[in-house]
Amino acid sequence: MSATPKTSKALTRRSFLQTGMVTGFVLPSTVLGQPPNRARPKAGDWLVFDGGEKSGERITPALLELDQRPVAALAKEPETETLRDGSRLNRVMVTKLDLARLDNATGDLTADGVIAYSAVCTHTGCDVTNWDPDNLFMACPCHESKFDVYNNAKVVGGPAPRPLALLPLRLDGDAIVIADIFQGRVGFTQQF
Ligand code: FES
Repeated sequence: MSATPKTSKALTRRSFLQTGMVTGFVLPSTVLGQPPNRARPKAGDWLVFDGGEKSGERITPALLELDQRPVAALAKEPETETLRDGSRLNRVMVTKLDLARLDNATGDLTADGVIAYSAVCTHTGCDVTNWDPDNLFMACPCHESKFDVYNNAKVVGGPAPRPLALLPLRLDGDAIVIADIFQGRVGFTQQF
């Protein structure tokens, strides 16, 4: 009995990958998956300062003051110490809130009151870098959208259509780690 002839359709993704392994050619990482610095923060990642004197240092609640202006932070993969700085969608803004003013569900997503919101505005994607210290609102410099940090980054002014995504945190000893993936969609939806 003759063998079934091979067709081009028989070159499945699996056989393609196997062929690569046999012949030794190197597939670009984008074919196999996202490089770790572009991958979204995930459970177990460290949280480190992004910029300023403490840039790269792990964040602990003791390093932040209550109701302080949010600071930029990034996740870092502990195994390889890869900073997840390959996408601006990975940047978060971090501050420390009074747990007594948060509902239990939100408090559970903080690390002893330290809370992290996506830095990317849900309007057209500017970095939300401004701060209204009187009202404790994060504010976007582009079109004045404001987000209430004590109310799950609810929109309280401006054209942003939805709250900032929240990155759940938890304590790991004295330091903070990511507890889960982003809650809510990171970034914005372009409208043409
Ligand atoms: S991009 Fe933030 S308000 Fe427009």
